[in-house]
Amino acid sequence: MDKTVLVTGCAGFIATHTIKTLINEGFNVIGVDRKPEPDNYAGGKYYQMDVSAPELEQIFKDNKIDYVIHLAAVPSVSESVKNPQKDCKDNYYATVNVCYFSKLYGVKKIVFSSTAAVYANPKYLPVDEEHPTGFISPYAITKMASENFIKYCGIDYIIFRYSNVYGEGQDCTGEAGVVAIFFDLMSRDKDVRIFGNGEQTRDFIYVADIAKANVCALTSDIKNEVINVSTNTKTTVNELFETIKRTLGYKKMPIYCPPREGDIEHSILDNKKFLELFNYTPAVSLKEGIGHMANNSILLKTTY
Ligand SMILES: NC(=O)c1ccc[n+]([C@@H]2O[C@H](COP(=O)([O-])OP(=O)(O)OC[C@H]3O[C@@H](n4cnc5c(N)ncnc54)[C@H](O)[C@@H]3O)[C@@H](O)[C@H]2O)c1
Repeated sequence: MDKTVLVTGCAGFIATHTIKTLINEGFNVIGVDRKPEPDNYAGGKYYQMDVSAPELEQIFKDNKIDYVIHLAAVPSVSESVKNPQKDCKDNYYATVNVCYFSKLYGVKKIVFSSTAAVYANPKYLPVDEEHPTGFISPYAITKMASENFIKYCGIDYIIFRYSNVYGEGQDCTGEAGVVAIFFDLMSRDKDVRIFGNGEQTRDFIYVADIAKANVCALTSDIKNEVINVSTNTKTTVNELFETIKRTLGYKKMPIYCPPREGDIEHSILDNKKFLELFNYTPAVSLKEGIGHMANNSILLKTTY
């Protein structure tokens, strides 16, 4: 296949897996990220640049880009609350810049990584795409504004609203996903804290399924749709704890702490629309995904 994809945020967690899938499918990949090129970058040309900068245009001038997968963002609710101006620049202005040049240089389709956060506190479960949107953080506002700009600017698009993504390579520092945090702590035999009674539910999706969805969005004729990408499966935080505990042979009990302000109690995304349009079901169960994480971390430990 002679098609070129620009992946923004290409040094990040989801991008790393998406790029591997793109390459397996025969796409040429160009990456842009403000971080230096990581050792495990598998794509072609790498541009170290802020995607909100006017210099972004040079990438479009230098390359014939067919598709853009826009993953660059700071995916942190608490960071967005602390510094909404920065959130606006990184998550909204950057998207406007990417879309502007994509349109100017004839990109055929943009795939955008939105989030379940745009549904705020769900009024019903599972949350389908017709559910009203809302906001309890600047992050949700800038993601929603980005969705609207993409629709406005006139390029064909797929907007994916991911549920909770987990897998190898996810940052376990800061406000990382709960899977990455639990996995890291248990593999180092450290104490694990659970906020609330642990009966809050999440819809965890393995990163390889997200990568596959991103690539399906390019190869399919489906366009101009907003679609949840999830497993439509509810897992309590206690069940997650037990799954990782069994996989890693961790022996300690969790430490229960008061619930955190602003945490959503239950979150499950309906994935019926995704299954109907793409004829593809996220394939990796939580147990299998955690198993992959354990196998790959053993591999890393024995390699180095
Ligand atoms: N991880 C999840 O559970 C989840 C859920 C829903 C949506 N998303 C979205 O998916 C996308 C990827 O998330 P991730 O988990 O891989 O995050 P990540 O932090 O691992 O990757 C994001 C990458 O974008 C880069 N970046 C950020 N702002 C940039 C800018 N202005 N210019 C250039 N590079 C920039 C960062 O350096 C980083 O490498 C994000 O848009 C996020 O909002 C993630």
